[in-house]
Amino acid sequence: MEQLSADAAQGGAPIIVASNRGPISFEVDSSGDLRVRQGAGGLVSGLVSLRTPDVLWVCAALSESDRLATRAAPGGRLDKAGHETQGTRLRMLDIPLTTYSRAYNTVANSTLWFVHHLMFDTPTTPTFGSAFRRDWAAYKEYNDAFADAIAQDAAPGARVLVQDYHLTLAARKLRERRPDLRIAHFSHTPWAPPEGFRLLPDDIAREVLLGILGADHAGFLTRRWAHSFLDCCADVLAADVDVERLTVTHEGRTTELGVHPLGIDSERLHERADQPDVEARAAVLREALHGMRMILRVDRTELSKNIVRGLEAYRELLLTHPEWIKRVVHVVFAYPSRHDLPEYRAYTGVIQRVAREIEHEFGLPDWTPLLLHIEDDFARTLAAYRLADVLVVNPIRDGMNLVAKEGPVLSTRGVALVLSREAGAVAELGADAIVVNPFDVQATAEAIHEALLMPDEERLRRSQRMARAATASPPTAWLAQQLDALG
Ligand code: F6P
Repeated sequence: MEQLSADAAQGGAPIIVASNRGPISFEVDSSGDLRVRQGAGGLVSGLVSLRTPDVLWVCAALSESDRLATRAAPGGRLDKAGHETQGTRLRMLDIPLTTYSRAYNTVANSTLWFVHHLMFDTPTTPTFGSAFRRDWAAYKEYNDAFADAIAQDAAPGARVLVQDYHLTLAARKLRERRPDLRIAHFSHTPWAPPEGFRLLPDDIAREVLLGILGADHAGFLTRRWAHSFLDCCADVLAADVDVERLTVTHEGRTTELGVHPLGIDSERLHERADQPDVEARAAVLREALHGMRMILRVDRTELSKNIVRGLEAYRELLLTHPEWIKRVVHVVFAYPSRHDLPEYRAYTGVIQRVAREIEHEFGLPDWTPLLLHIEDDFARTLAAYRLADVLVVNPIRDGMNLVAKEGPVLSTRGVALVLSREAGAVAELGADAIVVNPFDVQATAEAIHEALLMPDEERLRRSQRMARAATASPPTAWLAQQLDALG
């Protein structure tokens, strides 16, 4: 462990954000030069709005191009190398590739993600053998790398915001190195109930909880996930939990929990949606719709998004309500995600296969029942939000789900939302959405039918109420809440 005195850290950053993925990434262009790509997402827009040099963002180099850029910058400090980093100081960590891949792919995405989204098929998975212990050691090293970098760069008494399941051990490790810091951890995923969480080996389950309890403040997107965390602390650590006050006391320290829903920055989203490239995509979509109703879904191809059952529900709708044939089109955007993992690649294949089956089964010379796009195109997504009649968001489980919020915010005529009861967004949007059990394909088909039949006025009223709820806690407010929680 790197021992640092507070003196060594003099002149450091008063606010530090730590996350696996940073606000920018690099790619090598056709002439072999490194080019910066700006990132999107709630955390990025929240920080951009802060636009203060007080913030240092520590993230990992994710690709070979990121590594090249990082190596060319002094200490991985990309702002010092003259890169445009959206107004914040940025340090990118060059973690050895094997360590990174074991930590990110195997532990974070194939284990912790599966645990919190309750996705294991327990008769066969998971199996924790010696290979997993090796990967767990890499996850610890990865968390150490963050703790070392933050300890080195934090000003005395700085506030540190650690993000997500990649960094569950970082808060505790950081406290060991720099007890003067005020630390928050934020979980962007759901949190598993004890019976799901206890799939992890006992010592690792303890380590994960103790890691987060190293923070002064542990944030969650909904009360439901915060309560699950409390239940796990009581069950696994026999910690003293206060469900009313949302606190956990263990080994003489108390961590406060907070519920901070993440919403939409309406102004920024509208500004982007008003660009000419969005209108151009809208024109193409209108042409394809020929006046038919649009049932939209927009997802990254993550297994937790439940895209295949969503397609099955559409098939069921056409079977049980053939009156919709030639009157609707299902527009499906399933954008690539985590393609280093074979399960994710295979999932994309299944989505394509089921979409083809629906086309074969129902397609007519003058009617295409389903349009599937798997290449990411943000402008096209925004155009589709504007035009959709029905938006289907049916994840198996989801920390929040911002698609459910973006849709109503951008909709011009009002959109009827079919929403999984297992998405965090249901806490804020459930009253105006049509809420479904994501495993019940027949009920989802009926919900889509109901959504299509919803009178225009009612659809608009509900959609406007959902848009208001979706913008109640924009990223700036969400970030400010977490900083305030640290005093
Ligand atoms: O959607 C939940 C989430 O944890 C986000 O907070 C985070 O940005 C993302 O998943 C991680 O995805 P990726 O593996 O593509 O970085």
